[in-house]
Amino acid sequence: MTKPLLRVLGGEALQPSPVWLMRQAGRYLAEYRALRAKAGGFLDLCLTPPWAAEITLQPIRRFGLDAAILFSDILIVPWALGQELDYREGEGPVLAPVRTGADLAHLELKRLPRAIAPVLETVSRVADSLRADYPQTALIGFAGAPFTVACYMIDGRGTRDFIETRTRAYADEAFFQRLMTLLCDATIEYLSAQITAGAEVVQLFDTWAGILPPSLFRQYAIEPTARIVAAVRARHARVPVIGFPRLAGTMLDEYAEKTGVHAVGVDTSTRLAAVHAQVTLQGNLDPLALLVGGQPLKRAVSAILDDAAHRPHVFNLGHGVLPQTPPEHVADLVRQVRGETV
Ligand code: CP3
Repeated sequence: MTKPLLRVLGGEALQPSPVWLMRQAGRYLAEYRALRAKAGGFLDLCLTPPWAAEITLQPIRRFGLDAAILFSDILIVPWALGQELDYREGEGPVLAPVRTGADLAHLELKRLPRAIAPVLETVSRVADSLRADYPQTALIGFAGAPFTVACYMIDGRGTRDFIETRTRAYADEAFFQRLMTLLCDATIEYLSAQITAGAEVVQLFDTWAGILPPSLFRQYAIEPTARIVAAVRARHARVPVIGFPRLAGTMLDEYAEKTGVHAVGVDTSTRLAAVHAQVTLQGNLDPLALLVGGQPLKRAVSAILDDAAHRPHVFNLGHGVLPQTPPEHVADLVRQVRGETV
């Protein structure tokens, strides 16, 4: 029997929709916080396979979701290429900024295979556990899309508007294009290796795609994604790719059609019914509705199920689970999506 997530990503409309949540592992779970306290830092957690595998499985044990997503981070790729990366308490990721051709020369694709080995071991451990204990749960691998990863690489940290990055996208096209090419090559290798290790689906997170105006969105969100999708498909014809171009707005249909993704992740600002492209839809509950719970959550879930009726749909959030979310609300959400009484 094919897993529900794989059927829907193959274009089948299923009732109920399969369900998983972006950032379903993490600080809102006490069992994550306990392991996090034991580990030296967040990067250690990502790079220690028994821990990363355990964290990947924590939400599956609690909620029996239709997918497990590899526990890792999108900034593993720049780190694996040689960029300095540190996760600071209360501040998030901090990187030594890459802003010139000379900075770029320090990054090397040939470092990648060794650096990502622990992540691949995590993937294969999780794949083994799912096979044994959760045969209906699919394993999702992921990477950041090149533009979003470039935002952190160039600005050096999360910011509201990534001014350094956007400035260079206009002013230094040669530099920007070189960085995009390096990130495409690295991402193709990284995703292919995850698939070989046991990932059944891959997702590209383009969290900041929506800060680009349409012409740059085509150049730096659609084109690199299309290249990655084509290369992954050439090597692994049957593995679906989900693209999540957050805040793409009116560019979402063009993204879905031109990148060749099997499914698009839709953020909270777009109605599922307003997406016309013939792809599977994933989303798009407001993470704040999940945090609030109760009747507001129930109504928000119903509205999405109505919006997606009769289309291939994967129930998910419009962005990640917030750390303050009570885990019981996730259990309520899963029951409601599956048509069990809440
Ligand atoms: O979804 C999952 O459960 C899988 C794991 C996952 C993480 N990050 C774990 C994480 C995934 C898929 C990501 C993706 C990611 N990482 C994105 C794209 C999606 C999005 O949320 O927009 C981005 C932009 C990052 C970069 C990143 N990593 C930031 C900005 C931060 C700091 C903000 C924060 O939430 O703390 C991180 C750290 C991070 N990545 C944590 C987790 C669980 C928190 C680390 C901790 O325990 O302190």
